[in-house]
Amino acid sequence: MESPKTGILILALVAVATVAGGFLGWTIRQQGPSPQNAVALPAGGPSADHLRATYDPIHFKPAIDSATDAQCLACHREVLEDKVRETSPAGVKASTSKAWYQQLSTYTGEQDTFHRRHLVTPMAKELMNLSCTTCHQGHDPREEAQSSSATAAPQSDKSFTLRKQVNVETTCLKCHGQMNAPVMGLPSPWPESKEMFGNSCQTCHAAIRTKRHQVSYLKAEAIEAAGTKNADTCYGCHGGRSWYRISYPYPRHAWEGMAPEVPDWAKDRPTESEARFLIPTVNTK
Ligand code: HEC
Ligand code: HEC
Ligand code: HEC
Ligand code: HEC
Ligand code: HEC
Repeated sequence: MESPKTGILILALVAVATVAGGFLGWTIRQQGPSPQNAVALPAGGPSADHLRATYDPIHFKPAIDSATDAQCLACHREVLEDKVRETSPAGVKASTSKAWYQQLSTYTGEQDTFHRRHLVTPMAKELMNLSCTTCHQGHDPREEAQSSSATAAPQSDKSFTLRKQVNVETTCLKCHGQMNAPVMGLPSPWPESKEMFGNSCQTCHAAIRTKRHQVSYLKAEAIEAAGTKNADTCYGCHGGRSWYRISYPYPRHAWEGMAPEVPDWAKDRPTESEARFLIPTVNTK
């Protein structure tokens, strides 16, 4: 046991250290960027000043439209290199806590980060071809809100939605919406009705809405191949991992044998994928 005297001494020391630490932190902040505390960047690359880097033109239109992953990763390596903890601070093992969106038969490997699951894990590489700018279209570093000041992104800017850095309706919802079972004429949600259709989406989709996935961020052939082996591959992106209570209003591409009359639910649907994702060769046909 410590004597009361030592206790008081320790308390005093802690108090001095805290004040000094706070003051030191304050002085460092006051100094601003210096060669010692600046971010290390590739020589000849963009500015090494943190604030300048935050506002680097590459974050905004028009530069972001032609940015490559390598350019973004020059400053944001952590996005692909960071890994999740194996054990939480409270002692729970990541490997024993599978969330609801990790229950499909297609889920493999250790727990991983959001970015890695979309860009570098085996399934991501097999089926998708996402790049940073598929999701990141520019955001406002000062305040994640359009029109918050004269110099902020204007209200018409749809690159991101309020308090977010991306536009979730035009990105996430495409692969994380509800399955539109009513338009498909399914008698019940897919998990309940799948046996009726041989547990295969292609039972119907070999002939219906056959022009699909012709976009730069998806690997159409690999998706068909994987979906033939396991319908959970298809269901995963079309209801099986839905973060939303709505479905994405997919474009309705004309397909061979399609009835000429457009059903009411499809009247406002585009008939082409979003322009920025069109694959040039498919487009010129
Ligand atoms: C010159 C280095 C540099 C480049 C190149 C760069 N960034 Fe950044 N980025 C930064 C810095 C610095 C910040 C501010 C980070 C902070 O303050 O936490 C930032 C912030 C961000 C943020 C917001 C993070 C937050 O917490 O507010 C996103 C998203 C982002 N960058 C994405 C990208 C994407 C996508 C690209 C490629 C198109 C890119 N960045 C290219 C340096 C860079
Ligand atoms: C599937 C869509 C998607 C892709 C692809 C993607 N991001 Fe992100 N990124 C997000 C979302 C969503 C967030 C969190 C945004 C928020 O908090 O509002 C985010 C956050 C970030 C941040 C902020 C820090 C953090 O880790 O939360 C940075 C920096 C960033 N992304 C950079 C990148 C870079 C660089 C790439 C390409 C290598 C990339 N992102 C690819 C969706 C994506
Ligand atoms: C092109 C399709 C696609 C888009 C767009 C997309 N995702 Fe995903 N997402 C997937 C797939 C596929 C998986 C499953 C990855 C796996 O199981 O390995 C996934 C998994 C996830 C997971 C679970 C990761 C884990 O650790 O299990 C989260 C969270 C997630 N997505 C959120 C988002 C958000 C937020 C956005 C929008 C910024 C987004 N996704 C955009 C296809 C997509
Ligand atoms: C009973 C036959 C049938 C089965 C089984 C079926 N679908 Fe469909 N699906 C349809 C029909 C019919 C449509 C609407 C066709 C149209 O546009 O007129 C449709 C439309 C879709 C659409 C577009 C929805 C929209 O809002 O534009 C997607 C995505 C889709 N199906 C995915 C799937 C997936 C994934 C599976 C398997 C998990 C599946 N379907 C199983 C018949 C089926
Ligand atoms: C990695 C996620 C992903 C997987 C896996 C996936 N889809 Fe899709 N699917 C999408 C996205 C994103 C779109 C919208 C693309 C666009 O904008 O043209 C789409 C569009 C569709 C459409 C609408 C076609 C149209 O008229 O444009 C149908 C039908 C469909 N998918 C069925 C399937 C079937 C069947 C499978 C399995 C063989 C499957 N999907 C697997 C993400 C996925």
